[in-house]
Amino acid sequence: MAQQEDLDFTYTTIDKIFRLSMGETGDYSGAKYDGDFSMSLEEAQKAKHKFIADSLNIKEGSKVLDMACGWAPFTRYIVKERGATSLGLTLSQGQADACQKNGFNVIVRDCRTVTPADYGTFDAITCIGGLEHFCSVEEWRAGKQEEVYKNFFKVLYDLLPVGGRYYMQTMTFSKNMLPFEEIDINAEKGSASHVLALMIKEFPGSWLPYGPEMVIDCAKPHFKLISQSSGRLDYIETIGQWRKKFRKFNLKKYWLYLSLVPKLLTNKEFRHQVAVFKVSPNRVCFEQEIMDHYRLVFEKI
Ligand SMILES: C[S@@+](CC[C@H](N)C(=O)[O-])C[C@H]1O[C@@H](n2cnc3c(N)ncnc32)[C@H](O)[C@@H]1O
Repeated sequence: MAQQEDLDFTYTTIDKIFRLSMGETGDYSGAKYDGDFSMSLEEAQKAKHKFIADSLNIKEGSKVLDMACGWAPFTRYIVKERGATSLGLTLSQGQADACQKNGFNVIVRDCRTVTPADYGTFDAITCIGGLEHFCSVEEWRAGKQEEVYKNFFKVLYDLLPVGGRYYMQTMTFSKNMLPFEEIDINAEKGSASHVLALMIKEFPGSWLPYGPEMVIDCAKPHFKLISQSSGRLDYIETIGQWRKKFRKFNLKKYWLYLSLVPKLLTNKEFRHQVAVFKVSPNRVCFEQEIMDHYRLVFEKI
């Protein structure tokens, strides 16, 4: 799985730039437009929060575990708008510091190893955009991907009561995914081989499930599927809106961009890692159906 240093690279490096662009508790996961792209990004993110909270029956007093909580957008929603209590977990120190500064109960903790002995059990659990990081390329190559997901569902099983619900959304590989051997950072720019190589560099330690079926199968002994929908097209729109916000002028933010220039000039690996500012590998992968994105609601049986 991705280690804390990997997540710190992906999320702590951009912490300040992200908050200056998206707001203190911005979402860093696909929004829910349901195809209505006249909605603003903020409206579509709120629609997502509402959908999740309704699907999990989160109400006043509910005790929720927000795994992989990012900058706590969903935690903020359920605490402020539903009167729930929430514990958020992240592996990025920068995110945890920002969340705590903003008054949210968020700690740095690997959510895949939580047990009831740590914080008790929960009425509902979310993991919005976290599963992508749970299996590394090496684990996948060693044939361990399903074991990783099965172990994770066992963790969830122990933390929920019978009938308790779990929501997750995750990117998945899709019908046009390439064989691993064809992924190549030196391939033609913008080609599937090239964007997949960029993605691996942007998200070190992370590999995706092969379709929602793989996740649903791994959940089976413990959970039944309540609902499933693809958010692929909504994610393409989300990324387009993010890119506008990342570019929008803000003196402090542009100063931070400038401070990256020396490293950019001297470090080839870093140049690959931040090539995402020019082309969004995720967006190309969604457009070419190399990847899809799924929202899944499960219930413990
Ligand atoms: C794409 S962001 C999603 C953040 C947030 N849920 C949202 O929707 O904005 C992925 C998050 O997963 C967290 N993460 C990845 N692996 C984790 C793990 N094993 N334990 C806890 N958090 C993890 C990262 O630290 C980051 O906060």
